Amino acid sequence: MSTFIPNSVKNETIYILAIESSCDDTSAAVLSNKKVLSNVTATQKIHEEYGGVVPELASRAHQQNIVPVVHQALNKANIDKKLVSAIAFTRGPGLMGSLLVGTSFAKSLSLGLNVPLIEVNHMQAHILAHFIEGQPDGTPEFPFLAMTISGGHTQIVLVRDYFDMEILGETLDDAVGEAYDKSAKILGLPYPGGPLVDKYAQEGNPKAFPFPKPKVGDLNFSFSGLKTNILYFVQRETAKNPDFVQENLKDICASIQKTIIIILMDKLKKAVEQTGITQIAIGGGVSANSGIRNALKIAEKNRGWKTYIPKFEYCTDNAAMIGIVGHLKYQQHNFVKQDVSAKPRYVLSSK
Ligand code: KG4
Ligand code: ZN
Repeated sequence: MSTFIPNSVKNETIYILAIESSCDDTSAAVLSNKKVLSNVTATQKIHEEYGGVVPELASRAHQQNIVPVVHQALNKANIDKKLVSAIAFTRGPGLMGSLLVGTSFAKSLSLGLNVPLIEVNHMQAHILAHFIEGQPDGTPEFPFLAMTISGGHTQIVLVRDYFDMEILGETLDDAVGEAYDKSAKILGLPYPGGPLVDKYAQEGNPKAFPFPKPKVGDLNFSFSGLKTNILYFVQRETAKNPDFVQENLKDICASIQKTIIIILMDKLKKAVEQTGITQIAIGGGVSANSGIRNALKIAEKNRGWKTYIPKFEYCTDNAAMIGIVGHLKYQQHNFVKQDVSAKPRYVLSSK
């Protein structure tokens, strides 16, 4: 921890300028305490034609986007950069080339403005996004269970306090968002396919094509088998009927979605049984999925759970969630020095 003494005093408004660049979204946000004043994200369309994120292209696009995105975030927030109390940035986990752009930019900005620097774990940020002011379900109380479901991660985390978290289970191979995106690719849909599978699923029959569920112990997940099953299934059916996918797209998507939601909900139920905790918060891009949202609302009614689903803009990668962690760390004077470096394999730990 740095010895930097912030020039703020207690009760003064804390303005955090936050930067996120872990994967393929360049984002900047300004927070006034826990309130988001601006949250600007540039998504990179370039990856669509490759069916997935190309790391080299992602870091180049971050280089192009970061200055205008930060500029816009400050403009929208309508504050002078002299008011910024600290710079928060995503240190990891993520792609090295992408993280380096945000990390270097944040370090320079902190030097230039002479304000402290705060490093943030991206997965912790997906969880702590629930503490941004104005969430539709309010904020969870400690302890709660968080399920982070994104293109890079699938975890069930026991959250005892803001910075006291324990991973109870995680994926042993593909992340759930990857399962969506790879299934979509098999069906000929563009990247990222998750939102499209979700869209078609809502109009299809979820019982049309049953897919086997993986047998993984504890609270861990596995999605690579499902992807292979879908691939073989599609290959087998298109050999008989070349138009099979086109003719059955909605039913296939609904069947994939149903299988994935059952996998996620089964593990959540198990985690609730094991811990006795019934407050459930979800985060990450797949939280935008209509199937998981419905399943959680049903569990709330039938099982007495209290569920927390963040606003859509705080589900997918965004800098506002980095900003809220920045705010919480600022209050603890938890700053880092200029020698901090990006950490692509930044494991979520309890401190
Ligand atoms: O959190 P996020 O923006 O980036 C990562 O940290 O990975 O998550 C992106 C992932 C992608 O895999 C995308 O397909 C998936 O979230 N996703 C969805 C939906 N919206 C985004 N998956 C299923 N249904 C959705 N509605
Ligand atoms: Zn993410």
